[in-house]
Amino acid sequence: MAWRRGWTTVGSRLSRSPPAHRLREPPTPADLLYLDTLSVAGLLDEIDVVATVEDALRMNAVGETVLPAEAYLRWDVDDGWARSLTLPAALGRPAYAAGIKVINGNVANPGRGVPRASGLILLFDVETAQVTTIMAAAQVSAMRTAAVSVAAVKRLAPRIVERALVVGAGPIGEAHARMLGRAVASLGTIWSYDADGTRAVELAGRVEGVVAVEDWRSVVGRADVVIAATTSTEAYLRLGDVAPGAIVVNVGLDDCAEDLLLGADHLVVDSWDLVADDRNRLLGRLIAAGAVLPPGVDAGTGGRQRVAGELGRILAGAVEIVPKPEQRVVVNPFGMAVNDIAVATAVDRLARRGTAGQRLTR
Ligand SMILES: NC(=O)c1ccc[n+]([C@@H]2O[C@H](COP(=O)([O-])OP(=O)(O)OC[C@H]3O[C@@H](n4cnc5c(N)ncnc54)[C@H](O)[C@@H]3O)[C@@H](O)[C@H]2O)c1
Repeated sequence: MAWRRGWTTVGSRLSRSPPAHRLREPPTPADLLYLDTLSVAGLLDEIDVVATVEDALRMNAVGETVLPAEAYLRWDVDDGWARSLTLPAALGRPAYAAGIKVINGNVANPGRGVPRASGLILLFDVETAQVTTIMAAAQVSAMRTAAVSVAAVKRLAPRIVERALVVGAGPIGEAHARMLGRAVASLGTIWSYDADGTRAVELAGRVEGVVAVEDWRSVVGRADVVIAATTSTEAYLRLGDVAPGAIVVNVGLDDCAEDLLLGADHLVVDSWDLVADDRNRLLGRLIAAGAVLPPGVDAGTGGRQRVAGELGRILAGAVEIVPKPEQRVVVNPFGMAVNDIAVATAVDRLARRGTAGQRLTR
């Protein structure tokens, strides 16, 4: 009888003889690894996050990832609203890494002494899909975000980068200031500005080479790189503010005004699909209104903007963009889970080679 296949009789009881593939070591570790904020921070210091993210972006460009749309959950609270973003991704064909990031936030949190964003990353065993690792997500998220910007600056800055302005002195602005300082050798000055001046001064105190400024307008015209990483929902950075030859990264996604998005000589995104699907943000709405066209489409003469390319395809050499020294480049990174999962996987591998983290029973 079919159901009896693989069963042998031991005494009077049926006992199963496992199929050959089950005789191997279980592929999923018996326990879960938990990496808290401090452990993740220490491990990230030992990883080349920019290179990891560049690889993930290139893999995504050649179809070697799985990247579903993110789930966006928003709810009202007494003093505004809070949100939870769920971002799944897998890398490799066949996959060698898979997982999900849950990153939650409320813009009012810093006023309560709580970080705006926090969350967890879960990594999965690619064979069994069982969860293997749980780690604090905020630093992975901040570092991968800064790494995308640094990769874009390295590849697309129209001129030598000597001065950078980072607007917004939260964890995302700080990750940018740190990573730009380390990754861009020609960079001499990093200005930090925040509407809350204390935060910019504190950031300057923590990160070598950063100078806090009281008025971003006093320096923006001299910046070769502008990182816009605020929680502002009112666009403040206009085309006329940005010097010819500068690259702007619209990290906050609502920082750049319409004339800058439409007037940039090269508008680059990380993922056309993710940006186009997002009607919460100005660029998504401009795409929906037909004012911005996808990469590869002729923009014609109607004054419409065309996305020059996706960063991953540019890094992979599938799209060539060579900005002229007097041109302005704007990069609009939606934020891609492939980068989170790539960086988290590198953190996890390093942790498992040592003793970092706590083992939890299932
Ligand atoms: N694109 C991506 O991939 C990506 C990834 C992660 C975070 N983000 C975005 O980055 C932004 C910053 O995140 P965070 O965790 O550092 O937030 P945060 O709340 O800790 O810090 C934001 C800072 O912006 C300042 N600010 C607000 N409006 C301003 C303005 N008009 N001018 C100057 N400063 C202003 C606030 O005072 C605050 O200090 C958020 O909007 C977040 O959604 C984007």
